Parts: sequence; structure tokens; C-alpha cells
Amino acid sequence: MEAVYKYYDTIDSTNLEAKRLAHAGAKNFTVVSAGEQTAGRGRSGHSWISPEGVSVATSMLIYPEGIAMDHLPRLTILAGVSVAEAVEELYDLATQIKWPNDVLIGGKKICGILTELEADKGVAENVVVGIGVNVHHRKEDFAPEIRDMATSLDLELGGARASRKAVVEAIWRHFLSHYQAFVRDGGQLGDILPVYNSRLINKNKRVRVIHQIKDFCGIALEMDPEGKLLIRRDDGTVTAVDSGEVHVRGLYGYV
Ligand code: BTN
Repeated sequence: MEAVYKYYDTIDSTNLEAKRLAHAGAKNFTVVSAGEQTAGRGRSGHSWISPEGVSVATSMLIYPEGIAMDHLPRLTILAGVSVAEAVEELYDLATQIKWPNDVLIGGKKICGILTELEADKGVAENVVVGIGVNVHHRKEDFAPEIRDMATSLDLELGGARASRKAVVEAIWRHFLSHYQAFVRDGGQLGDILPVYNSRLINKNKRVRVIHQIKDFCGIALEMDPEGKLLIRRDDGTVTAVDSGEVHVRGLYGYV
């Protein structure tokens, strides 16, 4: 498994470009990275700002043969762990993960992941795993409403300058090694599950589960093998929540 790298100074969204390349017959594991996105996409229909030369915006195109479609959202979990491992391999920084896949340093977000899937008649044709990492941002580069929740590698390194290229390469190297095991295990999370749970910032914390119909509170336990977060409710019962349906927040803020 080898990645093929493409770089654009400016693009609308690396996820969109990876999908366009898929339609043009690009190779498995084509990586699209950009110095600036003009229409970056976040989860839940939000936009994702990637100002020029400041962040990592990178997406990998995957043709996921032999993996059941409902296991493919788990690629986001692989990506989150890969970002955490890549950052720790390159820099003396400790990372944690907020379920399902925000990577944090010191409780603040440095990375967001958006996985998109295209299917035809119930069969996945391609998956695009898109990763945005805050690298050179200064505090004032973040919008006021996220300033207290977000950080960048440079801010955390306190003076040193991180390398966007090294970050991209390390992320996809870790990802491909996890992906190989994921394919071998037929789409099960396998050995990555305990690695993920050891980094889970929500673990044993009281959280609010935000649901379209009714919110509830409880203690977050860990992620289960299907990628759901187990919550012990106040009546002692345990509920598994799905990231497609709920958001989880700390009682007093983001985590
Ligand atoms: C989130 O909302 O936390 C997910 C953000 C994902 C952003 C990345 S940047 C690279 C890729 N291209 C996009 O348009 N989005 C993803």
C-alpha cells in the first residue's frame, strides 16, 4: 500500500478534489493536500476554514474493496489515532481524542476529520478521509467563538515551527499501516480499539449527550468495538450512542 501525493496551493476542498479524482479513475490511496481551501467542509454541514499556508488540509481517496459499508465510518477512528500518533512521533506533545475523532492537545482541538462515502446500489465505490490540522495558527487566527477550544501545533510548541509536510506524511504512513490491519480483520477495529480508548479524553467524565429528540447526561465509559460511545446513565443502565446521531459535550464546556 503506497500513497500517491498531490499538492495544490489553493483548492475549494481537498475532499471534493479527491472525489473528482476518483471519478477520473485516480489510484487507490491518492492523497490530495492544499495550502489553502476556499470551501473547506466540516462535520454536520459546517464549513472548515483553512487559511493560506497555515494549516494542513489533506484527504485520502480509498477504494474499500471487501469491507461492509456500515464498517467504513470506522476509518475516521483510524484517522484520529493516526493523527495523534503522527503528532507524538514528530513533536514532544501529548495528544488525546475527544469522541469520535477530534484530536486535542491540552484539551483544545488541533484536528478535525471528515469522512465521506460514495455508494451505488448499496455498494461503496469510494471513501474520502479528510483531515484538517491546525499547524501555524496564532491565537488571533481562530474565530472568536472557537478561540478557547482550538489550538495549533506551533502554539503548543511555544516558539518552534512545526512542518506541514512532515505532519501530512506521518499521518498517512500511520493510517496506511492501520488500514492494512483493518482490511485483514474484515473491517473490525481490532488492536486499534485499546489504543483509541487509552487516549479518550471523555473517559470517566460526566458528559451531556446532545440528541435531536432528548438530551441526557451520564458518565462516558469507553468506545465499543463498533465505534459507539458507552454512556452510563444516572439510573445505572448503559447506552451505546452513535456519532451519526449525537454530539457529546462536557458539562462545563467542550470536553
Ligand atoms: C470537523 O468538522 O471537525 C471536520 C473538519 C474536516 C476538515 C478537513 S480539511 C481537509 C478536508 N477537506 C475538507 O473540505 N474537509 C476536510
